[in-house]
Amino acid sequence: MKIIIINGPNLNLLGKRENDIYGNETFNDFFEKLKTKYANQELSYFQSNIEGELIDKLQEVGYDYDGIILNAAAYTHTSVGIADAVKAITTPVVEVHISNTFSREDFRHKSYISPNAKGVIVGFGLQSYELALQSFLK
Ligand code: DQA
Repeated sequence: MKIIIINGPNLNLLGKRENDIYGNETFNDFFEKLKTKYANQELSYFQSNIEGELIDKLQEVGYDYDGIILNAAAYTHTSVGIADAVKAITTPVVEVHISNTFSREDFRHKSYISPNAKGVIVGFGLQSYELALQSFLK
């Protein structure tokens, strides 16, 4: 299956950002392991700190990929533009979060993406991404 992980702002800092919340591993290290473990799948990865670039990528892949694993990070809680893109495309989107956003500040409890996501996986650290991948593979 052709599946892409799309990460939003500040997730390029994984491994050196608030390690108590997000862990010590860089996303690249995690992604290399994931690709090795799921070598039969066509996995790709995109990260941007820029809202419009995330929307461009969703539009680009959103009509022919089999699945999108989206951690829009802070834009989850603010972006009508990303929410509209998720609604517009036909590829199913699984929303993921590393931390349990519901045990954090109130503003993190709201997601503009969830209503149009196929499902949501929250709070399992980087394993959230693998669980999302497994949901596509069944
Ligand atoms: C996050 C949770 C968001 O609230 C936060 O802004 C992030 C990361 C997570 O994966 O836990 O940057 O999406």
